[in-house]
Amino acid sequence: MNTILEELESRREEARLGGGQKRIDAQHARGKLTARERIDVLLDEGSFEEVDMFVTHRSTDFGMADKTIPGDGVVTGSGTINGRLVFVFSQDFTVFGGSLSETHAQKICKIMDMAMRVGAPVIGLNDSGGARIQEGVSSLAGYADVFQKNILASGVVPQISVIMGPCAGGAVYSPAMTDMIFMVTDSSYMFVTGPDVVKTVTNEVVTQEELGGAITHTTKSSVADNAFENDIEALLQTRRVFDFLPLNNREDAPHRPSFDKADRLDLSLDSVVPSNANKPYDMHEVITKIVDEGDFFELQPMHARNMITGFARMDGQTVGIVANQPMVLAGCLDIDSSKKAARFVRFCDCFNIPILTLVDVPGFLPGTAQEHGGIIKHGAKLLFAFGEATVPKITVITRKAYGGAYDVMSSKHLRGDVNYAWPTAEIAVMGAKGAVEIIYRAERDDPDKIAARTKDYEDLFANPFVAASRGFIDEVIMPHSTRKRICRNLKVLKTKKLENPWKKHSNMPL
Ligand code: HXC
Repeated sequence: MNTILEELESRREEARLGGGQKRIDAQHARGKLTARERIDVLLDEGSFEEVDMFVTHRSTDFGMADKTIPGDGVVTGSGTINGRLVFVFSQDFTVFGGSLSETHAQKICKIMDMAMRVGAPVIGLNDSGGARIQEGVSSLAGYADVFQKNILASGVVPQISVIMGPCAGGAVYSPAMTDMIFMVTDSSYMFVTGPDVVKTVTNEVVTQEELGGAITHTTKSSVADNAFENDIEALLQTRRVFDFLPLNNREDAPHRPSFDKADRLDLSLDSVVPSNANKPYDMHEVITKIVDEGDFFELQPMHARNMITGFARMDGQTVGIVANQPMVLAGCLDIDSSKKAARFVRFCDCFNIPILTLVDVPGFLPGTAQEHGGIIKHGAKLLFAFGEATVPKITVITRKAYGGAYDVMSSKHLRGDVNYAWPTAEIAVMGAKGAVEIIYRAERDDPDKIAARTKDYEDLFANPFVAASRGFIDEVIMPHSTRKRICRNLKVLKTKKLENPWKKHSNMPL
């Protein structure tokens, strides 16, 4: 009996060594953790339950019959993060460069199926040379199987991808279909075709980092949601964001009690908005002052910075925050910010996360670049996302809410549940100056007349009371009471029930 137990232990030992000590050392020398070390950091201590440790590939071409390594380049299983169930796969670069074989794919699919059955999120730690070259089309089929699972799991359980090494070719499309992508600066990259192919086809000379590194994808392309300094930081931040999310689309996000009282007033909010309507202020300040303990997890902080998106809690309940940022492009809506916010709103709506929208928007960004780039379709994405969302929606207009952007930013007209305005709000078709120049064009050479007209327009529209008199704003509130009001309404809206008409799915503008 003892010998059998010892054999099991020695087989396990062999599997844990993956591609061997030399390759593990090489992984460490690059500042990267191994697949198993990553799982140890990600999950609660001792919670990992591994499956398929002894799976090996079945290919025989190119001398592969003699080269089998237990686990076949991916460690899979389940565990907990702060006590809540999660399924994980972690690609092992020390085994055939973490490349994806038929059996490697089957291991990933197996835990995804299990995650769907029990209703728990999937976190993928990606570090792979792509399709297992020796296996040809079998590995491509394996990728497609994973893609299909990603698609079916979308909107059912949260899926998070952490890119911790290479991720190239068609392999990028599995993370691309998950809800969030995090990258590690300097050691991860994602591209469809690498620098050599780019050089051959387009004659462009570009490094891996420039083409598809963490900075590129979190600033320019917006493929990734966040970049972190190293493996540990990326995994700890993944734990942090996980805590904001429900386990699946039928559950609510976990409630986390805090010491921050729901009825806390913040008097400093009364003076956040400058008296000069053209002066910017930092919407981050408003966010951190109203949420529990100032704890805000921002997504895409380096991309489309005129829009802020991220998770926080209010009275212990997760909220998704969408906010215009007056510090960047005056907080206007443009292509990038519309796409960024639309995707975030849809994520929140999939997973029962109430949406808090903070509005200070002067309108859509004008210009040929925007029009030719399709701002009509891209702006419509955000309009569609807000209008389709059935989760509780609370909106606070802090200052400008002009034109179409007023409608788009979770207005009453898009089934906003509670729509507040601060006394500093200006809700109008456009700013007073622009409006007067159009409707009093004939008087434009008479500065006195124009000034008087502008004042008239401001008196009439540069306030929240016209909208409030129509019931488009539920209440004009003191800024210092914002947190108290929102927390109260989140409680009221807990039992909200709203359904869209039956349909196979909508045809949102893509
Ligand atoms: C099999 C692979 C492999 C692969 C790497 N290895 N990629 N084995 N299939 N795709 C093996 C290497 O042979 C080596 O084995 C070990 O992994 C480490 O690789 P190195 O090249 O030594 O490491 P490094 O210098 O860090 O370079 C990493 C790399 C490079 C940039 C990822 O290995 C590389 O370019 N690999 C090929 C990438 C690729 O073209 N993949 C196919 C993409 S197309 P030993 O035994 O020496 O340790 C694709 C299609 C997907 O993925 C389609 C989905 C629809």
